[in-house]
Amino acid sequence: MSLLNNRPQRLRANKNLRGLVKETRLSIDDLVMPVFFKEGAGSEDINSMPGIKKYGEDDLLREIEDLQKRGIKAILLFGSTNKKDCDGSQSYDENSSFHKIIRRIKENIDILLITDVCLCAYTDHGNCFAVKGSQIDIKKTLTALAKIAVSHAKSGVDMIAPSAMIDGQVKAIRSLLDKDGFDNTPIMSYSTKFASNFYGPFRDIHNSSPSFGSRKHHQMDFANKAEALKEALLDIEEGVDIVMVKPALCYLDIISDIKQKVCVPVASYNVSGEYSMIKAASEKGWLDEKESALEMLTSIKRAGSDILITYWAKEASTWLKTQG
Ligand code: PBG
Repeated sequence: MSLLNNRPQRLRANKNLRGLVKETRLSIDDLVMPVFFKEGAGSEDINSMPGIKKYGEDDLLREIEDLQKRGIKAILLFGSTNKKDCDGSQSYDENSSFHKIIRRIKENIDILLITDVCLCAYTDHGNCFAVKGSQIDIKKTLTALAKIAVSHAKSGVDMIAPSAMIDGQVKAIRSLLDKDGFDNTPIMSYSTKFASNFYGPFRDIHNSSPSFGSRKHHQMDFANKAEALKEALLDIEEGVDIVMVKPALCYLDIISDIKQKVCVPVASYNVSGEYSMIKAASEKGWLDEKESALEMLTSIKRAGSDILITYWAKEASTWLKTQG
């Protein structure tokens, strides 16, 4: 068969025709909105992420209710504390304000609640792990991460999302969840997480840049592709339900590769830097925010991502209603 006489532009002649042959369609059901909690009342803007806020208790509930009314089905909630310590002990304290708010959300709002499980917003050194001197204390870290997961599950969350990128974290969390009767609570692990420069704006949120050490010791080298697949496969072996690639935009080849080789859903995290660079360019009038964001999100889905975690979820809930 020869394509020599074909003219692809025939199928681009009008909107209805283009709709008919569209291969990738974004849906609000694909989207997960990250939401940030802060202790106390009121809410705070995040300078480096226009449109995104840290919400205090009542504001957080109102915001999530609004997301639910807009048709958003799932949120990824990040906790924080004013009482950071060396071990990050507030992270698994069931009397913490974060655990209280989890219970209030679950009592009042019908939305899938996924919680980020990590230590970096709770440790005074800003690292995602417990330390022994200036070294990572793996055993203590795994114990803490599993305790956080169970404490969240007890408070009612629907899914656990461990983001510390520590070897063995899925296994540790899965076994404690099972042991404590939460064998039905799924885990969506940040399984292939790169040591990326695009987390910059996010670290402003919790002042969680590590005060020593480098995330390159535990997060992946962005030059590696075979290893990216290995990370996803290891998590599956440890019992993960959904794997994640993070960030998304510079890693479309990785998403595509993993999607073809695993049989669990693949999520991608369209991270803070990917959001803020388009926001900043559009504030300057250099890019059209809506069109660029939708192009970016479509490319992530086209690469093979089933689930898109994105700060645009809220705006996209409106855009997608009117999308041609
Ligand atoms: C760490 C965590 C990070 C992000 C989500 N969870 C930052 C990091 O690993 O340094 C980044 C999210 C974003 O940039 O949007 N718990």
